[in-house]
Amino acid sequence: MVHNDKDEVTGINTTGHEWDGIRELDNPLPRWWLWIFYACIAFAIGYWILMPAWPGLHGYTHGLLAKSDRAQVAVELKALRAQRGAEGASLVNASLEQIEADPKLQAYALAAGASVFGDNCATCHGAGGGGGKGYPNLRDDVWLWGGTPEDIEHTLRVGIRSGHPNARMSQMPAFGRDQIVTPDQVNDLTEYVVALSHRKANAAAVARAAPVFQAQCSVCHGPAGLGNQAVGAPNLTDRDWLYGSDRASIHSQIWNARGGVMPTWEKRFDTATIKALAVYVHANASGK
Ligand code: HEC
Ligand code: HEC
Repeated sequence: MVHNDKDEVTGINTTGHEWDGIRELDNPLPRWWLWIFYACIAFAIGYWILMPAWPGLHGYTHGLLAKSDRAQVAVELKALRAQRGAEGASLVNASLEQIEADPKLQAYALAAGASVFGDNCATCHGAGGGGGKGYPNLRDDVWLWGGTPEDIEHTLRVGIRSGHPNARMSQMPAFGRDQIVTPDQVNDLTEYVVALSHRKANAAAVARAAPVFQAQCSVCHGPAGLGNQAVGAPNLTDRDWLYGSDRASIHSQIWNARGGVMPTWEKRFDTATIKALAVYVHANASGK
C-alpha cells in the first residue's frame, strides 16, 4: 500500500497504521543503530565461516579454524598424563625413604597426597587430618597401628577391620555387655584407667582393679597401659583419646568395646597414589 498521508505537525509521512486515532510516523532508523545491525550481520557471517557453527545431519560445519575446546582439553590431558606418568613411575619404583629424601619427588608426593586426602580422607579424619571422636588425629605423633611410612602405607593398603584378608585386626572384648567382668569391676577399671592417665582417681577402686587389669587388659594394653601397636591398642597413659577422656566415655568403651573401621584403599588407588598418601600423612604428623 502506498501512502502519501502527511502528518501536519511534523511534515513527515505516516506508515498508514493507526490505533485509536494515533498514527505512526515513518521515520528512518537511526544511523548508529543500523550500523551496529550491519556489523552484527557481517560478524555472524565471518563467524560461520571461521568457527564451528551449523549443525548438520552428520556432525556440524567445522569452520576454517576448526577450533574445538574438547580436542584442546584432550591434548592437554594427554600431556599432563605423560608428565604424571613419569613422576608416578618414579614413585612406584622408589622406596618411601627415597621419596622423602628426594626433594623433587617428595614435593610431588606431598601435592598429590594432599589432593587425594582432601577428596577421600577428610570426610572421616577432618580437613587437614585433625580427627574427631572415633577418628584418630593424623597430625600428632600418636599412632594406634604405627607411624613409620611403611606402617602407614600398610594401614592404607589393607584397612582396619575392613574385611580385607590381611586387614589390621583386633577386637577388644565387650567386658561389661558380655559379662566378662561384673558391673562393679567395670566401674573400678574406669577409675584405674583414669589413674593410668595421671589424673585423680578413687584409690580403693584403683587397688581393687589392679589385678583385674593385669588379668584382662594387659595382654593388649600392656602391663603399664602403654598400648601395643601390633594390635592397635591405644596407650592409656597419654592425653590422647580416641573415644574421649571423661569417665563416661572410658566406662562406655570398657562396657561395649567399639572397634573403629577404616576401608582398604588398595582397590581404589594405585601404588603411586598410596605411596603419595603415606608420605603426606607421615609429613603431616611429625615426620618422625
Ligand atoms: C570411613 C571413615 C574413614 C575414611 C574415609 C578414612 N579413614 Fe582413616 N581411619 C578411620 C578410622 C575409624 C580409623 C581408626 C581405626 C581404629 O580405631 O583402629 C582410621 C585410621 C587411620 C590410620 C591409622 C592411624 C593410627 O593411629 O595408626 C591412618 C594412617 C589413616 N586412617 C589414614 C587415612 C587416609 C590416608 C585416608 C584416605 C585415603 C583415610 N584414612 C580415610 C576412618 C576412616
Ligand atoms: C584384645 C585386645 C584388648 C583387650 C584385652 C583390651 N583392650 Fe582396650 N582397646 C583395644 C583396642 C584395639 C582399642 C582401640 C579400639 C579402636 O581403635 O576403635 C582399645 C581401646 C580402649 C580404650 C579407649 C582408649 C581411647 O583412646 O579412647 C580404653 C579406655 C580401653 N581400651 C580400656 C581397656 C580395659 C580397661 C581393658 C581390660 C578390661 C581393655 N581395654 C582390654 C584392645 C583391647
